[in-house]
Amino acid sequence: MTSKILIIGACGQIGSELTHKLRDIYGVDNVIASDINTRNLELVNSGPFVILDAKNFNAIKDCCINNNVKTVYLMAALLSATGEKYPMEAWDLNMNSLFHVLNLAKTKIIDKIFWPSSIAVFGPTTPKENTEQRTIMEPSTVYGITKQVGERWCQYYHEKYGVDVRSIRYPGIISWKTLPGGGTTDYAVEIYHEALKNKTYECFLSEETELPMMFMDDAIKATVDIMQADTDAIKIRSSYNLSAISFTPKEIAASIQKVIPEFTISYKPDYRQDIADSWPKSINDTPAREDWNWKHEFSLQDITKEMLTQLGKNNG
Ligand code: SER
Repeated sequence: MTSKILIIGACGQIGSELTHKLRDIYGVDNVIASDINTRNLELVNSGPFVILDAKNFNAIKDCCINNNVKTVYLMAALLSATGEKYPMEAWDLNMNSLFHVLNLAKTKIIDKIFWPSSIAVFGPTTPKENTEQRTIMEPSTVYGITKQVGERWCQYYHEKYGVDVRSIRYPGIISWKTLPGGGTTDYAVEIYHEALKNKTYECFLSEETELPMMFMDDAIKATVDIMQADTDAIKIRSSYNLSAISFTPKEIAASIQKVIPEFTISYKPDYRQDIADSWPKSINDTPAREDWNWKHEFSLQDITKEMLTQLGKNNG
């Protein structure tokens, strides 16, 4: 039996597009999608799919053994905003799911893991501009704490047990196929939906809140590239800084107004403002560019054009 890929959390924003991309590359039947429910029917019906709880070690283990799964992409997580509402659930899901796949690799049931980290590993004391790969990290959200601790465990399992785990610190991801859920950067997706529907958007962050962001196509390319890179090229086994663009709500609104001149934005910051204020404005990703040739393609205006075109088609 040929070895298979398993995606845990395949119905989510990144998991769904990653599933399609990996199926294009490796063949539909070689990529098993899984999630805790069937909420994303388009994804569920697109190829092999199993219901899997990322917190259930035996269920993941059985799925890997029964299907000869050798590579796991662990995309299930509670994000920053939801994590503040349900701290213990975020800790439980984000940490235990990671231990489950790390232990499957330690015992050689699987060979390779992709696990996403986030800009949320940084905190209020981190230098905000051009934030370095190695710097002060005192995350102030539960989500950020789980990602920072997870990074340490990834490095530990690599060093002590030779586990081939690869990770990148995603910035906010902008996409049109599947909605994000429970993140602080979600405004940068909502704004396009509202621009097309109502020509106006009330933003939950203030106008000058600058955050690192990236288009989905770039995020998927980075994920595929780091997993396909030679083992020796991956010198960082905690997680790589990854950067594309940075902008404020005011700037994304201006880019939309170039296409929809009557679009207006207003600002009503909520609890997510504190989270955003604790994160860097821009990221230095030199190690990713040097070690495995990472390079982004999409500018803010490219993203705006693509988002409005694709969402416009979906809305008929
Ligand atoms: N997009 C994520 C969030 O806002 C950051 O990793 O929680």
